[in-house]
Amino acid sequence: MNFIEVSELNKSYGDLQILKNINLTIKKGIIFGLVGHSGAGKSTLLRTFNGLENFQSGHLKINNVEIDKLNSRELREFRKKVGMIFQHFSLMHRKNVYENVILPLQCWRQKIDKKKIYNLLELVGLEEKAQFYPNELSGGQKQRVAIARALVMNPHLLLSDEATSALDPSITGSILDLLKQVNDELGVTIVLVTHEMEVVKKICKEAAFMEAGEVLKSGNIEELFLEPDKKMREFLGENEILPKEGINIRIYFPKEVAQNPIITKMARNLEMNFNIVWGSLESFGGIVLGVLVINIAKEFQEGVCSYLSKSGVRWEIV
Ligand SMILES: Nc1ncnc2c1ncn2[C@@H]1O[C@H](COP(=O)(O)OP(=O)(O)OP(=O)(O)O)[C@@H](O)[C@H]1O
Ligand SMILES: [Mg+2]
Repeated sequence: MNFIEVSELNKSYGDLQILKNINLTIKKGIIFGLVGHSGAGKSTLLRTFNGLENFQSGHLKINNVEIDKLNSRELREFRKKVGMIFQHFSLMHRKNVYENVILPLQCWRQKIDKKKIYNLLELVGLEEKAQFYPNELSGGQKQRVAIARALVMNPHLLLSDEATSALDPSITGSILDLLKQVNDELGVTIVLVTHEMEVVKKICKEAAFMEAGEVLKSGNIEELFLEPDKKMREFLGENEILPKEGINIRIYFPKEVAQNPIITKMARNLEMNFNIVWGSLESFGGIVLGVLVINIAKEFQEGVCSYLSKSGVRWEIV
């Protein structure tokens, strides 16, 4: 089921068009990445998802509701169920961890269930720090407070704008693990903006690549990274320098055969030599997948192609 549906969405500031004919669907319950270079329009698009940012034309449905058609009271209700976290945490420095986390409840005049708050603090790993002030916490701990605060209203959607960009790479991993846990355990759909490909590979199931206000491509992570077209390759900075001699074949390893020494077996079977031109093994959500470009002599082309087809890997001549 689609949770977010964007169609033909356009947004400008004055004469400057920031979002250009955006078409995108985000499934319920997944972690979706919005990736792109600085200025691509990622944050702007993300802000439309909580109704903070208007747009000139197009449609945006969240949980089957066209949010630009809501009146201000309905929009307030809608926004209660959308949590957001940022790069710089935006905590209140004069309030302790507990007081920061309950702020949304106070703001929306909701009952405060102390036990529930402590459960939430436990989920983010801060049950011991409830009385601490932000300046007594590390960057990673501050982001954990911000995550707890974003979850306190039981949102169905969590928006994250570069939530790990200000953190040490070693801390980034644990915050991403926490987001994954929140997604798994609470079923919250997460849309995450980042310029770091590693973040996307680690926890996103699907992603959209944005450049200059456009979505270049979107879909399943494995397909985006394993079968990039020309535009995507430029974007990913994957520069293969291919030999002019012989035949170059790019082979994609789906997860079932990623570890299978299929190429070595093939070489032995066909009694041939091959050169590895370019290869990359990548981990997607803990699963290792690979792309390999091999170079072979022309005389082996037919044999290799039929061998590869039979073995169930995807391949193409490049
Ligand atoms: N309030 C505004 N008025 C005019 N232009 C704006 C405004 N906000 C953003 N822009 C422009 O919109 C474009 C997209 O900005 P946005 O912040 O969405 O990019 P981004 O992809 O999030 O970039 P970054 O990775 O640097 O955060 C930029 O060119 C920016 O200058
Ligand atoms: Mg941004």
